Amino acid sequence: MKYILSILAFHLSLLISFGQSKLNIIPYPSKVEIKEEFSNYRSVAVSAPLDRINEYTKGRLRSIDNDIYDTAQDRDQEELALVGYDPNELFVWIEEDLKLASEEYTLTVINTRVNIKASSKLGFQYAVETLFQIIGTNESGTIQSMTIHDKPRFAYRGMHLDVGRHFFSVNEIKKHIDFLAAYKYNTFHWHLTEDQGWRIEIKKYPKLTEVGGYRKETLIGHYNDQPQKYDGKKYGGFYTQDQIKDIVKYASDRGVTIIPEIEMPGHALAALAAYPELGCEDKKYEVATKWGVFEDVLCPEETTFAFLQDVLDEVVSLFPSKHIHIGGDECPKDAWKKSTFCQALIKREGLKDEHELQAYFIKRIAKYLSQKHGRTIIGWDEILEGDLTSSTDANNRPVIMSWRGNEGGIAAAKAQHYAIMTPGSHCYFDHYQSENKGEPTAIGGLTTLAKVYSWDVFPPEIDAADKKYILGGQANVWTEYIPTYAQVEYMAYARGLAMSEVLWGTNNEFKEFVPRFKYHYELLKSRGTNITNHLDELKPKIYSGNGGPVLFLDDIDRKPVTMTFEPFDKGTAATSKDISTLDSIRMAESGTYSFAMKKGSYSHPHIKESVKIAYDAHLATQSRISLPNKPAAQYAGNGEASIINGILGSDQKYGGSEWLGFGGDDAIINLDFGSKKTVKSIKTRFFKGEGQWIYLPKEVEIYTSKDGVKYTLSAKNSTISSNAKIADVMFDKGFKTRYVKLVAKNYGIIPEGSQGAGHKAWLFIDEVIVK
Ligand code: ACM
Repeated sequence: MKYILSILAFHLSLLISFGQSKLNIIPYPSKVEIKEEFSNYRSVAVSAPLDRINEYTKGRLRSIDNDIYDTAQDRDQEELALVGYDPNELFVWIEEDLKLASEEYTLTVINTRVNIKASSKLGFQYAVETLFQIIGTNESGTIQSMTIHDKPRFAYRGMHLDVGRHFFSVNEIKKHIDFLAAYKYNTFHWHLTEDQGWRIEIKKYPKLTEVGGYRKETLIGHYNDQPQKYDGKKYGGFYTQDQIKDIVKYASDRGVTIIPEIEMPGHALAALAAYPELGCEDKKYEVATKWGVFEDVLCPEETTFAFLQDVLDEVVSLFPSKHIHIGGDECPKDAWKKSTFCQALIKREGLKDEHELQAYFIKRIAKYLSQKHGRTIIGWDEILEGDLTSSTDANNRPVIMSWRGNEGGIAAAKAQHYAIMTPGSHCYFDHYQSENKGEPTAIGGLTTLAKVYSWDVFPPEIDAADKKYILGGQANVWTEYIPTYAQVEYMAYARGLAMSEVLWGTNNEFKEFVPRFKYHYELLKSRGTNITNHLDELKPKIYSGNGGPVLFLDDIDRKPVTMTFEPFDKGTAATSKDISTLDSIRMAESGTYSFAMKKGSYSHPHIKESVKIAYDAHLATQSRISLPNKPAAQYAGNGEASIINGILGSDQKYGGSEWLGFGGDDAIINLDFGSKKTVKSIKTRFFKGEGQWIYLPKEVEIYTSKDGVKYTLSAKNSTISSNAKIADVMFDKGFKTRYVKLVAKNYGIIPEGSQGAGHKAWLFIDEVIVK
């Protein structure tokens, strides 16, 4: 052994960092030095303290050496000293180093000698995962000399899965856990109860799964499709406690902690259907058959608390996690407002309103879990409503999951509560990942691979002193529109690779991630998963304003592309040209622009069609634009001028490169034509998606001005409505003007009884077409 160590030391001193090409490891280790030195090996021998290594990792090591030398059995390691130096053998020496933190490890390769050090089972697991990402699963091959010293930036690295809207089998849940373990996530947030289904067996309340586990039918298509249609088929399922124990053990063996979520007081219609006495009203409840938020919620009566405590007793007995998620999001207050019991309770407890009643509810549960079981609750950021901090146990202060942007996380940290960041803008894997027309129906939005990769868990506006309260982040996989596990793979795996690196804290340039992504994409594809790759799609982007639209192609890598232009006027012939070497194209004539990659120049089979853009020049495409209210960062199209670039957004999806979304604000569009123009009409359109809290504007006004300072109201429409997803608004009154201001008044705070009640409405506007 001394001989081997001296070889290691000798080569370490010679190790030079070459810096350049990266290893195909995701998440990329925090410190890597690679040497341009490659060694072949024909067999593998492993020596390890097997009592320090989890069964899963032992199994993996045995797959490359079925006769591991157990150094735990022979701590003086005399025998090892006799091991000869066989350069054709990959010799993996694994040892404990208690100076390293739990998730930290080092991995050194010098020729065919590998040395791994870690201090915990998780550290060894991660080191061995990295080793396998380097050598594959073969017992022979080539290895590059390197040193790795790796540890994560964030302690909490999670992914969530909603099994309420759609149910996934035990084996599928295990697949999800496998993915998490392979990419060094350490937490699986299992969303087990919902309006549409209760999925965890509770022995004391069998009807939770007998009744609450099944819905009579399911909405077809998108919630915003009108009229809504149903499939007429009973749907459901649940996990028995034995199955849950098996899954918890499976995860634990792989270094993944499962945090169960039992939703309360909202999103609990399945529980109400099973036990209607838990509601405020004396009525029959049904397991929900469509998506959204429902007014029927748990009533804060003593019997309800007794029920929840019983349920949580069983949950806690199944899940050893320190944290138990109790939901707390999207709880409409209608039922509590109408309930004489709730009103009396508000009075008796000296609460201000129903929001404080929600805080009272959450605090009671937090206290119960803390005092009875020593557990800490996690809740969605709504649990900050009311006074959460007082009278919750100091050693088990509720943890906030910040999902409605970063504000919840920042406020939590300010109040010295730990927070987990999962803002919808970057972490919701139920959003579209491509603007490709062939995408399966998703809830909405657009969260591309590049966008996920660009995320920083720390909100930019957080005070440095508060950062210590940010435990980490997580991706959420809500499954309203994800009926099968194959589709979970489609929605979550590609972006999950990017998120893994974000949470590990080594995300840097997207361009550097791309080759590694492609490698892991192929690997996961070869293992039969339904992971997707949208990188090779053409993404022509048309920027406008200040001199007319200019088209750019995505510049990740230069592709051979042909552009065909077909004027709207059918009398004129189409023309084609190779634009591979152009960076940008100034749009001139109206017509259809088609972009197609040359055959064989793309790797992904689903890119079959060319991308078509219908460009319709109008007065505003040449104008200057300014917006006093900015669209939300995640709904900013390709910049403000996306709404005057001559191109319409999708009829089916908000988000993407053409629509602008305003959260709570009015859309105010200032246009300057440069000189006085004769305007015959102004037309625009709005998206209606009440399931996603997107409401039509209350009013649209058109102002004109001679000087861009003083504006006069020229036209107005206060009756905007639509039975479909799109509402067109047309002003065909003519006027002569240099300046136009369009004001679309936001719907405002969403009233009780509507989707998103109590929140600010979103307003989405597309092209402002001036003729
Ligand atoms: C959530 O997305 N309702 C937490």
